[in-house]
Formats: sequence, structure tokens, C-alpha cells
Amino acid sequence: MKPMGPIPPTFAAQTGTLTIGGQDATALVAAHGSPLFVYDAALVAAQVARFRAAMPAGVDLHYAIKANPLPALLTRVAPLVDGLDVASAGELARALAVKPGSAISFAGPGKRDDELAAAIAAGATINLESAGEARRALAAGERLGIVPRLAVRVNPDLELRGSGMKMGGRASPFGIDAEHAAAVVREVIAAGADWCGFHIFAGSQALDAAAVSETQAATLALAARLAEEAGAVPPLVNLGGGFGVPYFAGDAPLDVASVGAALDTALAARADVLRDSRFAIELGRWLVAEAGVYLTRVVDVKQSRGETFVVIDGGLHHQLAASGNFGTVVRRNYPLAVAPRMGSTADGEVSVVGCLCTPLDRLGDRVALPPVGVGEVIAIFLAGAYGATASPAAFLGHPAPAEIVV
Ligand SMILES: Cc1ncc(COP(=O)(O)O)c(C=O)c1O
Repeated sequence: MKPMGPIPPTFAAQTGTLTIGGQDATALVAAHGSPLFVYDAALVAAQVARFRAAMPAGVDLHYAIKANPLPALLTRVAPLVDGLDVASAGELARALAVKPGSAISFAGPGKRDDELAAAIAAGATINLESAGEARRALAAGERLGIVPRLAVRVNPDLELRGSGMKMGGRASPFGIDAEHAAAVVREVIAAGADWCGFHIFAGSQALDAAAVSETQAATLALAARLAEEAGAVPPLVNLGGGFGVPYFAGDAPLDVASVGAALDTALAARADVLRDSRFAIELGRWLVAEAGVYLTRVVDVKQSRGETFVVIDGGLHHQLAASGNFGTVVRRNYPLAVAPRMGSTADGEVSVVGCLCTPLDRLGDRVALPPVGVGEVIAIFLAGAYGATASPAAFLGHPAPAEIVV
């Protein structure tokens, strides 16, 4: 038997039939088909409210739409947040449908000239990833006759301790090395660009509040040092994000109240050069992961050499992360449940496998579940972030999943 991660509290408290946003999961599958991603907008709104309650007033919240760019979800999230962060022209177009360009920032290496031009034309802020990109953005602005809004993304000389994905403290395709950042700031200001500040993103999926706070304090100090060096006050310091969610057994939720209290203290003590700056935190998964459930019907239950396999009509082509093949070193089980039997006692050990013809397609490895039969629905939790759009949907030619917001 291998443990599963914790079922998010809203669902863990349920007994009998799983409901999402008050709707019966099995009925949702009957109505919309299987497999099906369901996102509960009220749970996202509750996370936003939790953020606002915990963070010091005046710290903006940006949603990194790479976590889940479904238009129907963006429509619900956009009014709740101060900004949207995008990572491509495709995401930019989705963001512009729900927010003005001035509330959008564009980060990511390898922005093509046409992407830079689209962002400048939209009035979005470009988080510059290199000195070369700075020059191409300035040239694009000149071609368009528009003053570009440019921020300098810094590759910090610090990392987010304990994060699942470190994005600082080393050589990196992301951002301009801290030791060269001030020179690029001076260059874009001298060229007449609208310099918007710094973007400093040190890592992702951190559950340790002390580590997040330590990184935020170090990020503030770095921004102050670079501002002094550049001789310019940054209008905005994007402090990154990195708030994680508990996916696996033993994970505990991030203590955001503690992060907020420490940030309040750090901001109060910030250097004078940042006195008039605004601050933002940029979050993806923390806002949306727990709000999503991947529902998939059982196609077969088979025995093989003493093991039971529950074969579902979904798989890693929709929810790669739950198979352990998206950014994890050791495969561990996401939380899952039999939708009609929430809270029932497990009656044995099964492996839940997808319909792809590869041994990688295992969404639950030797987990304890209540009895489940063909035609019934398995729920895989924490499917709101990096699910449908972060999975190889075209692999083996199965249909795309349906996605709904309730
Ligand atoms: C620049 C940037 N912003 C935001 C995110 C979102 O991270 P998460 O979903 O872990 O909050 C990432 C993740 O890779 C990122 O690289």
C-alpha cells in the first residue's frame, strides 16, 4: 500500500456522493462526458480572499495564467486579481479578453519579435529576460511608435529554499543575472522606455512559510540594491510567488498568515529607495489547483498476478502531473477517491491506470480505495493547475477532455 496526498478540505469533509460546487460529480460526467475537468470558481474566490486577508494591504495579487488559462475560468478570476501574468502571445490574447493590457505582464524566455510587438501594442509590461531581448523590445516599440512598458526580470543570486522548482541562484535562461540587471535598467530608461520595475521569481511550489518569507525579504533587499545601483526608483517590485499546495502524503498547507505577517514586517523595514514602489505577488497553482477535480469513468477492473488494476478512460494525456511525470523526481500519489463513495472505508489495494498504452500511465499506485465498479467515476484531486494544458493531449489520439467551471 502506498499513501495518497491529502484530499483538499472541501472535498475531504464529504461523505456519500462527491459534489463539486454543489453538483453531483457523477451527474456532471453524465451531462458533460468523461473524462471531465471541473473547476469550482467559489474555491478560487476563497483562495483570493485568503490571500487578501493574510497579506499586507497594498500588495497586489497577480494570477499566472499558465496554471490554468481556460477562458471560462479567467472570466471568473480576472475581476478578483490585480494583474495577469502571461507567457506567450496566445496567453496574452486570452488575458486581453478579460483584463486591460496595463494589468498584464509577459514573462518567459524566447519571446519572438511578433510577441514583443503584440505586448507593446496592447500596453502590457514585458518582463525582460536578457539584454538582447531588451534591445529587440526597444526596436519593436520604435517600429510601432509606442513607448514600451518594460520591467527587468532579475535572475536573483538567491533561491527559494525547499521549493519544488528552483528558478534562482544559478545560471538560468530566466531573467538577467543580478550583477547585470542595473545596467539594463539604465539602458532602457536612457532609450526612453517606460521602465516599470523589477520582476524577481526565485522558485515555485514551496510549503515552508519561513523559506518563502526569507526569500521575500532577500528579494526586497536585492530590489533595493539594484535600484540604488541603477539610480532609479522601481514603480513596481514583483516579488515572485512560489506558494505551494499539498499534493502528497506528509505535505502540509503553506501558512499564508505567517507569510503575510513576515512580509508586513519586511515591507515596513524596506530601504528608502523602495518607499514609493508598489509590490506584487504572482501566483498560479496556489489559486487554482485545489479548485479543480479530474473526473474519469472506470472502463475495466482486472486482476493480474495478485494485483487489481482499475482502468479509467482518462490518463496522463490529460493529467500528466498526477502520473508523476511533470516536474517530480520520485513518483508519489495525488489524492483520489471513488466519487460515489466519499468517506467510505477502503476495502483493498488497487492501482488506478489510464487508457494509454504505456506503463507511465498510472494515476494511483497501490492505493487504498473503497470498492469500485465499471462505469463508476474516479475523482483525481488537485487538478485545477497544470492539468489539461500541461499534458500531452495529442499522445495516442484519444479525445480531449471536457472542462467546465461550476
Ligand atoms: C515567472 C513565473 N510566474 C509564475 C509561475 C507560477 O508558478 P506557480 O503555479 O507555482 O505559482 C511560474 C512557474 O513556473 C513562473 O515561472
